Amino acid sequence: MKHKTHPIFPEGFLWGASSAAWQVEGATLEGGRTQAIIDLNSQTKKPYTDNSIASDHYHHYLEDVALMKECGFKSYRFSLSWSRIIPASDRKVNPEGIAFYNGLINALVEAGIEPIVTLYHYDMPCWVDEQYGGWRNRAIIEEFEYYSKVCFENFGDRVKYWLSINEQNMQIVYGDWLGVSKGCDNWFEQKWQVNHIMNLCHAKAVIACHEMVEGGKIGPVPGYVPIYPASARPEDQIGAMNAEELTQKIWDDLYVYREYSTFVKNYWKENNIDPQIQEGDMEIIAQAKIDFIAVNCYRSDMGSAPDDTYTQAIGLNKSGIKGDFTYPNLAGEYALGRNPFVEVTDWDWHIDPVSMRYSLRYLWDHYHLPMVITEAGYGAHEDLGEDGKIHDNYRIDYLREYAYNIGLAIQDGVDVFGFNFWSFTDLLSTGNGMAKRYGIVFVNTTDEELRDLKRYKKDSFYWYSNLIKSNGQNWGKDMEEWRLFAKK
Ligand code: BG6
Repeated sequence: MKHKTHPIFPEGFLWGASSAAWQVEGATLEGGRTQAIIDLNSQTKKPYTDNSIASDHYHHYLEDVALMKECGFKSYRFSLSWSRIIPASDRKVNPEGIAFYNGLINALVEAGIEPIVTLYHYDMPCWVDEQYGGWRNRAIIEEFEYYSKVCFENFGDRVKYWLSINEQNMQIVYGDWLGVSKGCDNWFEQKWQVNHIMNLCHAKAVIACHEMVEGGKIGPVPGYVPIYPASARPEDQIGAMNAEELTQKIWDDLYVYREYSTFVKNYWKENNIDPQIQEGDMEIIAQAKIDFIAVNCYRSDMGSAPDDTYTQAIGLNKSGIKGDFTYPNLAGEYALGRNPFVEVTDWDWHIDPVSMRYSLRYLWDHYHLPMVITEAGYGAHEDLGEDGKIHDNYRIDYLREYAYNIGLAIQDGVDVFGFNFWSFTDLLSTGNGMAKRYGIVFVNTTDEELRDLKRYKKDSFYWYSNLIKSNGQNWGKDMEEWRLFAKK
């Protein structure tokens, strides 16, 4: 459907940006925080940079919030570090950790910025891993529930939007990449056991939020990568559907319907998988009624029928040089491939703003729940230019087209209440440290050289500020005048 007018964003739409504790805070061993597994990875696994500094948000948070306010932010989505709040297995709450987040939340509230808070974003405390084996042991369910309750109790008076676990689906699908498969010798089966434990943690957090936070709302954060069929060949359609099921739909169905789908139950049966569901588990899950879905959507993928060979689950591009990505071909399941109709970033991520509209429509049609965008973003190689600035027109293009497509989805009838892209300041990428930058504010440091960490507003900062301040009406110039995305 071609719309004749620009989309209208609802009053109070939450324009903002997004981050995660370990990717932005630094100060990993300050203020009583103890280490998380991801910190250790960062020290040993190049090209990770060292989390102990990251963007040094821990020491710059007031300056960062002031910049958000200057930009006109209505919301900011960030995560809490479990090991900053509960540093050890004795469950003692760390007052310095609580004080840090109180400082951040208070600064946001004072600036008129709605905090949207993720409980868990990839940073498993070392003590949980050492004591219990992380997500592999059901003992984590009680620990996670306890941690969630501490968060609701301390911050629930000011934080009304809560997110449970970031991209649980991606953590399971790409277990090696995000470290969740550590210590598992049969990930093919164990991933479903780990996933079930995560579902219980999510459920406990949802239930506790509703019990403890007055007016609190909570949702999951699926990493949503819509899969288009590679052709109209019927087998490709099924390949694409299988990919959609096995990378995201299984998770979304569980969150919304609060029971496992027949698809996944049949999949387990066919593959002799025992997810180790215990008596009473499904009753807990059934009580965890979510209020909204937080959607992370950067890109789309293209699915087809696999051939009989088996390629690794995914070979992510770690070099930042186009073409370094290995698409999976999972015999009997699905294959993914390069979509020739869209451009890619230097990390081979499809740049597909229409996928945002598609995803929102798809999720709305399936689940009829309000949604907030909690991630989308453009990773790029960047450094200060000779003029001391960053002219990131590619990011403006990306954000403009993604935001516009959210507007179109709203006009199509979808209930979306915010756009919080990744990220406000530069921060550590999961696999590429500072070499892959996402911010609309440059942080002056690199993986190789620790610099002064000074903040510089990129061109995209000014562009986004105009968009926010006009509640989605000032696109820089008329949208019709912008040339087609990526065709410049
Ligand atoms: C999201 C994660 O999936 O993708 C973020 O929630 C991550 O933590 C973002 O940083 C971008 O991915 P990457 O690998 O480029 O950092």
